[in-house]
Amino acid sequence: MNIDHDITIALTKGRILKETLPLLAAAGIEPAEDLQVSRKLIVPTSLSRVSLVILRGSDVPTYVRHGAADLGIAGKDMLLESGSAGIYEPLDLGIARCRLMTAGPAATSSGDNATRRVRVATKFVNVARAHYARKGMHADVIKLYGSMELAPLMGLADEIVDIVDTGKTLAENGMAPRELIAEVSSRLIVNKASMRTRHSSVQAVIEALSNAVNTRES
Ligand code: PRP
Repeated sequence: MNIDHDITIALTKGRILKETLPLLAAAGIEPAEDLQVSRKLIVPTSLSRVSLVILRGSDVPTYVRHGAADLGIAGKDMLLESGSAGIYEPLDLGIARCRLMTAGPAATSSGDNATRRVRVATKFVNVARAHYARKGMHADVIKLYGSMELAPLMGLADEIVDIVDTGKTLAENGMAPRELIAEVSSRLIVNKASMRTRHSSVQAVIEALSNAVNTRES
């Protein structure tokens, strides 16, 4: 791969990383350290001008938007929440698929038609506000940072907006999925200025990853 500029790619630890690494390897980008065990936050790669930074998922769009990273891999859930200002989203990597959904206690049904007002616990506050507004409901949104499933059980909220993968976390906590808000997969994102100023190098990474995705799917 011909890389003429210094390029930084923002990645996230956790479930996305495991599925991202084989794609990066197929694209010719191999981390110099084992990211699953290393505590380093900036990691060189097999390509001397390409480095990786390891971030919280919700911080990946922020780093790319501000140009602190040229490219990033982020879940569509994080992108919907953060908005698309300053970011291109050229490639669906088709990995880490899950769904962004509303959910509530399995024993009760959604109270939407009764009150048109609902208390919602979520870390996706913007997504939640937009979703309930589309339904013509008023949502009192309570920001949480994790264990959203607990909120209705503890009387903090009527519903949650969260990622559902297998549905096991909901089921084991007496909750059930209600409405689908969006299908989620991981996307390659690019800083808009980097796309212009480092075009050949950014484009080389996009093409290599795009080929890796197509090869995997064929
Ligand atoms: C997500 C989400 C749910 C769980 C859903 O949490 O918040 O808790 O996964 O998965 P399931 O449908 O397969 O049970 P994650 O483990 O990503 O951690 P988080 O709290 O940091 O989001």
